[in-house]
Amino acid sequence: MTDKVRVGVLISGQGSNMQAIAHAATAANCPYNVACVIADRPNAAGLQLANNMNLPAHCIDKKQYSNKLEFERDIDNHLRSHNVQFVALAGFMRILSSWFVDRWQAKLVNIHPSLLPKYKGLHTHERALDAGDPEHGCTIHWVNAGMDEGDIITQATVPVLLDDTEDTLAARVKAAEHKLYPKTLAQLAAQMKP
Ligand code: GRF
Repeated sequence: MTDKVRVGVLISGQGSNMQAIAHAATAANCPYNVACVIADRPNAAGLQLANNMNLPAHCIDKKQYSNKLEFERDIDNHLRSHNVQFVALAGFMRILSSWFVDRWQAKLVNIHPSLLPKYKGLHTHERALDAGDPEHGCTIHWVNAGMDEGDIITQATVPVLLDDTEDTLAARVKAAEHKLYPKTLAQLAAQMKP
């Protein structure tokens, strides 16, 4: 397959979802490939992971910008210089402006570690445990200018066990994320192809 959809992945931290996305893309029949990885901070561990996988990885350090729009313009330019067609936020810890969201409308998705609309924002595992939820999980959704608000595309559910801690629950959700994100991107990429 030569006409794969070119995906740009934006990260801020560990990059384990980016790694899962990129690993799945090595399969010959995967309808997308990872065109570039961008981190918003130089110490994002995922940058090293991306380098190890020989992916074009680049830091656009938010701290170097006083103006959010300039920061987002540089991200946009970098994505376009790599002919990116679709953007996956994977632990990217910034809310993007409506300018950026509009430019990537219907081509910008995020993964969130809860069963949205439950638990937008941070500390989702702790909140699921505190609420006594029997199930927890993760969501892939379209990105709009709100926080964790766009329409839901796919979800994966995991059980909450009686002896779960935040860490054990987080690990179970992460494992589900690593399956859900590549699978969802492949579905979306397949739909984009002529
Ligand atoms: C994931 O749990 C994702 O749902 C959230 O941030 C975390 C990123 O993890 N948005 P990683 O950097 O992919 O390991």
